[in-house]
This record gives sequence, C-alpha cells and structure tokens, in this order.
Amino acid sequence: MRVLVAGATSVPGLPLLRELNSRGHEVVGLTRSSAKASDIEAAGGKPVVADVFNAAEIAATVQDIGPEVVVSLLTTLPKTGPLRVKDFEPARKLWTAAGSNLVDAAQKAGVRRIVAESVIFAYGYQSSGPAVMDESDPYPGPPPKGGDAMLAALRGMEQRVLSSGQHSATEGIVLRYGAFYGPGVPHYEMFVRLAKWWAMPAIGGGGIVSWVHIDDVAKATANALDHGRGGQIYNIVDDRPQSFADFVRELSAKLHRPRPITLPPRLVGLLAPYAATAFGTTWLPLSNAKAKGELDWTPIPR
Ligand SMILES: NC(=O)c1ccc[n+]([C@@H]2O[C@H](COP(=O)([O-])OP(=O)(O)OC[C@H]3O[C@@H](n4cnc5c(N)ncnc54)[C@H](OP(=O)(O)O)[C@@H]3O)[C@@H](O)[C@H]2O)c1
Repeated sequence: MRVLVAGATSVPGLPLLRELNSRGHEVVGLTRSSAKASDIEAAGGKPVVADVFNAAEIAATVQDIGPEVVVSLLTTLPKTGPLRVKDFEPARKLWTAAGSNLVDAAQKAGVRRIVAESVIFAYGYQSSGPAVMDESDPYPGPPPKGGDAMLAALRGMEQRVLSSGQHSATEGIVLRYGAFYGPGVPHYEMFVRLAKWWAMPAIGGGGIVSWVHIDDVAKATANALDHGRGGQIYNIVDDRPQSFADFVRELSAKLHRPRPITLPPRLVGLLAPYAATAFGTTWLPLSNAKAKGELDWTPIPR
C-alpha cells in the first residue's frame, strides 16, 4: 500500500522506511529539507518536501500523494534526549499546531488510517502504581514539575488522532513507544560511549521505565498499518520493564565494565531535572499484551 511517513528522517523514521520497503509498500517520506532527501531515498522511500506548520502546504501534499495510511513520527527533541522541561518546547508546538494540520490533511484526503507516535510518558509521571500497567487508564499520572503545557500538548495530540474516526473516514491509532535503545539511537550510543570510559552513571530512585529496541519499533509500527483497532492506544514496549539503574548496570556488564556509580535523583536533578524525574522516580512498568494480541507483534528478547 502507499504510505506517507511524516518524520521520516527521525531516529525511528529511517528504520521504519526500511521495514516498509522490505514489505513491498510504496513509501513516501516527508522532510522539510531537500538536503535530507538522499537519506530517505537510501532507506527506500520517495522524498517529498513540506512543512507541517503550513496547513495549506501539508493539505495539498497529502492530497497529491493520496496515501492509504499516514504515519506520524513528529517529535523534535534534543539529539540526545530532553534534560529539562524547556527542551520540549519545539515538540510542544509541533504536537499542538502541526499535529492537527497533519490529521486535518489526512481526513481531507480520505486517508484510511493515521498511526501516530507517542511515548510512555503520556501516562504521566507518577512515582508509584500497580505492578503492571496497561492501556485501560490512559492518563493516570501528573505532569513533571513545570511540564503541564508539555504533557497537555502530548495528550491533546493523542486525542486528535484517537477521535479522528468518530467524525471522519480516517481512523487513528496511537503507539506509545518505550524509551528507545539500539544502534542509531543517539542517547543509547552516548550511554555506550560513556560506559566504555567507565563514566556512565546510573540514576537511582524507585522508578521503573519501559524500554523498546528501535528495530522492534519499526516492526510494530509497520504492523499497525493493517492490524489493531482505530481509536486505540498500544504500548510498544519490551517484555521486561527495568529501572534506569538496572538498564545501565546490564549495559556496563555486557561491555565488561565495572558496575556504574548510582547517583540519587536529587543530585542528577541539579543539572537535568526532567531526566531525573522521568528516569529516576517515574513508575511505568507497562504491559505489551494488547500490542502482542492485536498488532501481531512480539519484541525480540535481547
Ligand atoms: N521513545 C523515545 O525514547 C524517544 C522518542 C522520540 C525521540 N527520542 C529521542 O530524541 C532524540 C531526537 O529525536 P526526535 O525524533 O524527537 O527528533 P528528530 O530526530 O529531530 O526528528 C524529528 C522529525 O520530525 C520532522 N519534523 C520536525 N518538524 C517538522 C515540521 N515542521 N514539518 C515536517 N516535519 C517535521 C523532522 O523532519 P526533517 O528534519 O527531515 O524536516 C524529523 O524527521 C533522539 O535521540 C531520539 O532517540 C526518543
């Protein structure tokens, strides 16, 4: 089928283009910059240049392409991930204005389905909860300190996608990705480099994070083109939630490095308050049973 990927040049975008291409889909990748066209072509996609902040331009682009499915991987975070709430400001704007332009464009063009990237932190930043959490309570937790507008924008983007099928022929699915790891993921590659220098610190605290390998993200997202139900959220996470400290300890052990020093979240918070909350104290042990059952997807144990 013909698929338009917005955010084609992002960290999950290029592996997704390769996955869709290998399945025989006709893939078009959106970028704002013709300089990135060659990256899209190298991953098996046909590049198209447009800016989703320009409502008329994106509507005309989607209409011209006529995709059956649109995949939105529109986030714009710092290269190695957000350290402070203010690092989300460009993403907040993108989720607010640009996200709705893309959904509107898909609806006007009669696209059958829109599949949108979200993230496990849409659940909120609670510090405790059940041993395993599923998608049945979409918003149990509060924002991080100072992050009300950011979390509202993320949840607003999700709601526009999820409700799309109620008033148009374009049904929407939201994929809540875990914290990425694997080759080509800049923050993971930074952890590996730091661990090799014996300097990768672990953030302590009682939090749990759900993780996902970038190749499993591509497979789950490709499956969501024609599996799953419109109006639904799916957790795209590993079988094994893990604290940040345990993740870093395992990584160091795999690299035959000494056990990393654990820093208390309060100390990490002096330099990186958002990261200290998200990866130190937030409770997100998520179930992937719904994605396994409905998207016909299983993450590879690693
Ligand atoms: N779950 C997770 O762990 C998770 C999730 C997201 C991001 N991250 C991390 O955060 C870092 C940054 O990744 P990112 O994906 O946020 O940013 P990114 O790599 O800069 O990708 C942003 C994508 O959105 C597109 N885009 C942005 N604004 C646009 C606009 N106005 N119109 C059209 N397209 C637009 C960009 O297209 P062009 O630049 O080609 O125009 C690009 O493809 C990476 O380290 C990543 O691993 C982690």
